[in-house]
Amino acid sequence: MNKFGIRFSFSTFGESHGVGIGCLVDGVPAGLKIDEAFIQAELDRRKPGQNEFATARKEGDKVEILSGTFEGLSTGTPISMVIYNTNQKSKDYTNIKDIFRPGHADFTYWHKYGIRDYRGGGRSSARETAARVAAGAIAKMMIAELGIEIQSGIIEIAGIRSENLDFDYVKNSQIYTLDKNAENAQKAAILEAKTRHDSVGGAVLVKIKNAPIGLGEPLYYKLDAILADAMMGINAVKAVEIGDGMRSSRTTGATNNDPIKADHFTSNHAGGILGGISNGEDINVSVYFKPTPSIFIEQETIDTHNKEQHFSLKGRHDPCVAIRGSVVAESMAAIVIADMLLLNMGRKMSGVKEYYFKK
Ligand SMILES: Cc1cc2nc3c(=O)[nH]c(=O)nc-3n(C[C@H](O)[C@H](O)[C@H](O)COP(=O)(O)O)c2cc1C
Repeated sequence: MNKFGIRFSFSTFGESHGVGIGCLVDGVPAGLKIDEAFIQAELDRRKPGQNEFATARKEGDKVEILSGTFEGLSTGTPISMVIYNTNQKSKDYTNIKDIFRPGHADFTYWHKYGIRDYRGGGRSSARETAARVAAGAIAKMMIAELGIEIQSGIIEIAGIRSENLDFDYVKNSQIYTLDKNAENAQKAAILEAKTRHDSVGGAVLVKIKNAPIGLGEPLYYKLDAILADAMMGINAVKAVEIGDGMRSSRTTGATNNDPIKADHFTSNHAGGILGGISNGEDINVSVYFKPTPSIFIEQETIDTHNKEQHFSLKGRHDPCVAIRGSVVAESMAAIVIADMLLLNMGRKMSGVKEYYFKK
């Protein structure tokens, strides 16, 4: 499957070392102002080669809109976008042509399809996430017109937590951390792993602000379920929490229930979702990334002939993928919210009548 979403949906195409990657976004209402510079700025946040905490690969990631817009507005037709691959070093991968890299999708793709593009992981490469970011930028423009905003930042790297959650600080941080006080320790952990030719894991908090009450389609397209689906579909994500997540299973009802006042909830352990439907509070999603599988330490594996091998990787890789993964997580959150907003519009007869008969 290469598509996601029902009313606001997108599909992606392309491989890491092919001609390019791209997406086709469908269901965008006509008349949305499409700001190409914003799409590019979003891609630049994900772009590799920006500092020592990301891979040294330099990719231009220049986006080109091919369809679906006219004079700066969406036309209601599919919006397609392409990003050409420009900095591929396929020879980096010839030594692993027949090898299954531990932690990668090589083994499973080979067994599932019997053929694989080994260059940079082919379709399984996180290069594809650039296309999600482009699609997410369209979703962000749409939800912004309704006052909904999405923020994100690093809450953990190598087990070092960001205790002080300052979303304004994120843009000043090379590692997109939420906590200035934890930043040096988080950076040091990345560089220390890098020196040992190893990698570290990390986690991202995505916050959706000003979402109206009522988003989410029970029982089988619940907001929390689809957010988890969206996040788990991002490369290297191994866990997702809504609100207090796992911690809520270790507490009591008296502590965990969010008391309700006339115009707000006095706490938000639920992470803004009750019964699969948004309750008007901030929607908080924590997304946990495993350590980058490509490390430069000798590893044990097998080849396509089932022969055991010791091998060492070459190439250029992120020491912690959670950092660049944060904008991908934001993008997926925006796409889910855009989809839920459109799905929610037909929920009451009064709303349907208002749409068709209001002058
Ligand atoms: C933004 C982003 C960048 C990534 N960059 C790399 C990378 O440079 N090297 C690498 O080995 N894995 C990278 N990954 C992770 C792999 O793509 C992923 O772990 C691999 O395809 C196996 O899939 P799985 O971890 O989801 O099972 C990246 C992930 C994300 C989200």
